[in-house]
Amino acid sequence: MFFSESRGRCKPVKHVVEGRSGAVRLNYSKPNRVDTVTMISKKHYPEKIMLKKGGTAEETLRPFGRRVFLYIDIYYGRREWKVNRKIFMNGRLVPEEEAVVSVFDHGYLYGDGVFEGIRAYNGRVFRLEEHTCRLFDSAKSIMLNIPYSKQEMNRAIIDTIKANNLQDAYIRVVVSRGTGDLGLDPRKCKEAQVVIIADKITLYPEELYEKGLNVVTVATRRNMADALDPKIKSLNYLNNILAKIEANRAGVLEALMISGQGYICEGTGDNIFIHRKGKLITPPPYLGILEGVTRAVILEIAEEENIPFQEAPFTRHDLYTADECFLSGTAAELIPVIEADMRVIGTGEPGPVTGRLIKRFRERTSSEGTPVA
Ligand SMILES: Cc1ncc(COP(=O)(O)O)c(C=O)c1O
Repeated sequence: MFFSESRGRCKPVKHVVEGRSGAVRLNYSKPNRVDTVTMISKKHYPEKIMLKKGGTAEETLRPFGRRVFLYIDIYYGRREWKVNRKIFMNGRLVPEEEAVVSVFDHGYLYGDGVFEGIRAYNGRVFRLEEHTCRLFDSAKSIMLNIPYSKQEMNRAIIDTIKANNLQDAYIRVVVSRGTGDLGLDPRKCKEAQVVIIADKITLYPEELYEKGLNVVTVATRRNMADALDPKIKSLNYLNNILAKIEANRAGVLEALMISGQGYICEGTGDNIFIHRKGKLITPPPYLGILEGVTRAVILEIAEEENIPFQEAPFTRHDLYTADECFLSGTAAELIPVIEADMRVIGTGEPGPVTGRLIKRFRERTSSEGTPVA
């Protein structure tokens, strides 16, 4: 036992809490008053987090999200402090336990719905308008009526972040067709269901943002736009999941999907850029890709920085012989790629153009966005 507890209160002790994949050190001076909490795990929380003094454990830990609570939960068996996360469900913020979806929801039965992944940095939601617009465009394309205006959706997103006391967050907005019967017919689903979750996400281990990622191109082709247009950010991600399974089996963290004609399209959850012969190149949307919000930011930065760029199809050969490569996405942010299909890209280290773009991107995420307050 690492902790001591009497009558529901913590005794003043110093403890190391071992979690499933790391550890948290809680330093108490007075009962139920945390002086400092330090994440020891390098794997998931490379930064050392120091919490404000004098708060209760819940107040101090909540901003750091669920993972920290997991450790506490393991330890306390959820007796004293709970995650207490609030989920937006159809107009109400409810505790996580109450945020349940019907098994007759067509989002569950058929992947019939749309979604967004959004990030907030430092109390500001990055590119909120762009994400909301893409959500509404996706919904329009599949004839799904979102029962809110864009402004109401923005408000709901901000309220959810606020209710969870988060400054840095990954927000998932899911709009499903709603509850129907076991048939496909969407007319049986009377109302769309809107869920917003504010949490954290770590797509790739932190050190790979410095060292770069290995990827493979996979046999699973990107959805053809005349079957299911990849521009629709639908709940049907099976195409991407099949590609991800191939990456897993190849022992790398990301897969690149190719079009029917043999051009590189995108990763399973990110867009791709190469730098080749002095030019930044990214596949054009007509090839069949999700038009990434982050991708658009990179193109804006390239323009500002006078980095020549082009939206143009490129092949695996172009990728293998590129000087630099990186992936972009809301969850992934910008991550260098140093090897594809066992071909070393450029020098095998993240290149200078990638480094410059990452720096400029981080400057933007830390200074721009819609305030949560
Ligand atoms: C298939 C796919 N491509 C690209 C992206 C990157 O898009 P964004 O930058 O808008 O997150 C995503 C992210 O969700 C994705 O799922």
